[in-house]
Amino acid sequence: MPNPQLNQHGELQHLLTIEGLPRDVLTHILDTASSFVSISDREVKKVPLMRGKSVFNLFFENSTRTRTTFEIAAKRLSADVINLNIDASSASKGESLLDTIDNLAAMHADMFVVRHAESGAPFLIAQHLIDTRQHHIHVVNAGDGRHAHPTQGLLDMFTIRHYKQDLSRLTVAIVGDVLHSRVARSDIHALKALGVPEVRVIGPRTLVPPSLADLGVQIYTDMAEGLKNVDVIIMLRLQNERMSGTLLPSAQEFFKNYGLTMERLALAKPDAIVMHPGPMNRGVEIDSAVADGSQAVILSQVTYGIAVRMAVMSILAGN
Ligand code: CP
Repeated sequence: MPNPQLNQHGELQHLLTIEGLPRDVLTHILDTASSFVSISDREVKKVPLMRGKSVFNLFFENSTRTRTTFEIAAKRLSADVINLNIDASSASKGESLLDTIDNLAAMHADMFVVRHAESGAPFLIAQHLIDTRQHHIHVVNAGDGRHAHPTQGLLDMFTIRHYKQDLSRLTVAIVGDVLHSRVARSDIHALKALGVPEVRVIGPRTLVPPSLADLGVQIYTDMAEGLKNVDVIIMLRLQNERMSGTLLPSAQEFFKNYGLTMERLALAKPDAIVMHPGPMNRGVEIDSAVADGSQAVILSQVTYGIAVRMAVMSILAGN
């Protein structure tokens, strides 16, 4: 599939995936997000960068963090936000995705933020807008199937950079259901593009495909070995809704072998941080003592998601 997210000048036209994005584009987004973090501390948090623009949130799949922080981010940029209620929309009467898009475009949409269970749906929309010469409308992928979740990848990088500053010396471990995880794929592309020297993925063979090694990561099936001396641990949720067949004996068995407990966390560096994109399954991939402990930065990830999404939207809107 062609990648239509950069225009002919190499500028970001849509944000569909981190794969293939140059380091300077990622760094520009992260630096812009830094400036928006300071706005969050002000009494008046709004800036007029998207005044008069209409952002349509199109969430065809459930979300708590991404949908809400996109809405907050758009409002802080002074945009008008329309949250389409997909269940009550004409999609339920058989209207095609692209017909829905054409109708919303006719309402003078400036940006579509799209989450969809089908990998490639945001690409399809972006390509349609290019084909129909609607270059003024931007698409942001808010998570598509098991393919990509670029703003989650960016907010994860923002969080790592905040706590660790120098990415060029880090060892990062991504643990769990990598097979079904769009977050893992976006994180791996971002970590590699930003120059993190060692990225490990840890999980059972059924959930960590050997083909991941092509992305330049080290694969571990043993949790104790994989966690040794890491600086950052990114835990992943078991994506039961995307699993077909029996890939695991049980959630209890998974926790026994791959759940992050305080005991296992002690194998990492003493100042290691623990991340999770959410939603968490306590007692399945992570123990509550870790999730609520002093090394967890999971809620900071959520907060930084606002600034990162403000940065993405304002850059796309041409600021
Ligand atoms: N991290 C993430 O995508 O969470 P939501 O599904 O709540 O948006």
